[in-house]
Amino acid sequence: MSTETLLEVKDLRVHFPTGDGLVKAVDGLSFTVDRGDTFGIVGESGSGKSVTNLTALGLTDRNAANITGEVLFKGRDLLKLGKEDLRKIRGKEMAMIFQDPFSCLHPFYRVGDQIVEAILCHDKIPKKQAEQRTYDLLGAVGIPKPKERFRDFPHQYSGGMRQRAMIAMAMAHNPDLLIADEPTTALDVTVQAQILDLIERVKTEFDIGVILITHDLGVVSEVANKVMVMYAGRAVEMGTRDEVFGNPQHPYTWGLLESIPHVDHKGSKLVPIEGAPPSLIRTPNGCSFHPRCPHRFDPCDKDDPEIKDRGAGHPDACHLSAAEKTRVWAERQAPRTKAAS
Ligand SMILES: Nc1ncnc2c1ncn2[C@@H]1O[C@H](COP(=O)(O)OP(=O)(O)O)[C@@H](O)[C@H]1O
Ligand SMILES: [Mg+2]
Repeated sequence: MSTETLLEVKDLRVHFPTGDGLVKAVDGLSFTVDRGDTFGIVGESGSGKSVTNLTALGLTDRNAANITGEVLFKGRDLLKLGKEDLRKIRGKEMAMIFQDPFSCLHPFYRVGDQIVEAILCHDKIPKKQAEQRTYDLLGAVGIPKPKERFRDFPHQYSGGMRQRAMIAMAMAHNPDLLIADEPTTALDVTVQAQILDLIERVKTEFDIGVILITHDLGVVSEVANKVMVMYAGRAVEMGTRDEVFGNPQHPYTWGLLESIPHVDHKGSKLVPIEGAPPSLIRTPNGCSFHPRCPHRFDPCDKDDPEIKDRGAGHPDACHLSAAEKTRVWAERQAPRTKAAS
């Protein structure tokens, strides 16, 4: 089966000059998203996930940030396009949904009318046709009685329904890529699962690629087929879901794994990662995770480990040898497995 690359980010850097110094929000990030992928980006708050994707959407103000690298979307470098071209691509070929659907839905206008507006903004079709398309979209995202709910105001929808409406709006133009930034963070657990299911269903039905951004590795393990773990503006580990969850290599990934409730680790203790992410103005020398890493050794506070395949079959940015990683990870898991049995 051939894969079509939708997004190729190459050595992206987004640095914000501020009064306190240069904030290196994204600092040398490369990844690829294909059609059919659900590409999970995971990391603690402040690791650069949103800045990465806002920049990919052309939404980071070029006057406020030094942006370098390439963001190739279907072969065109978005960092070289003007505002008007970007606006055409955004919404039409790339769409996004955010944590808070209220930030995108206007409270005073009916949900249906807002989706109709969104359609008409890029497609010059008769209004009646746009309305019919809106009923279809609302139905496709699982909103019952679309013709009636079309006339509701956002506050008449539940949180989950609002997120469904946002997904309908995002899909209005048949985009190729959907970027979902913490789409389920504001929702309770059952609704969260429904929205993740919906995103998967939409991905398959519309044959698109999805970038799913979350601070919750549990969410990524549910739906993503590829995973990128971010720390302090960089990727520290990247691979297929099976590679990253089956054979995790980076101590930060281990920490994230230990801090999620795991179905097969019932009763085992959840261990939060100690310490806090570094300042992005003065990142530590060497590996930026080393101050928090229980496995740091000689080179870690001096040599900055690049992300590359270090023998595990997928790339990571940790100086430990692959064999050492296997041993340490098994050791870390031993008490958890015991607690679970
Ligand atoms: N316009 C800006 N000016 C200065 N710093 C910014 C700006 N936007 C984001 N940042 C900083 O970039 C870092 C990464 O932010 P973000 O991408 O939002 O993190 P995440 O989405 O992973 O939680 C944060 O430290 C944030 O404060
Ligand atoms: Mg964010």
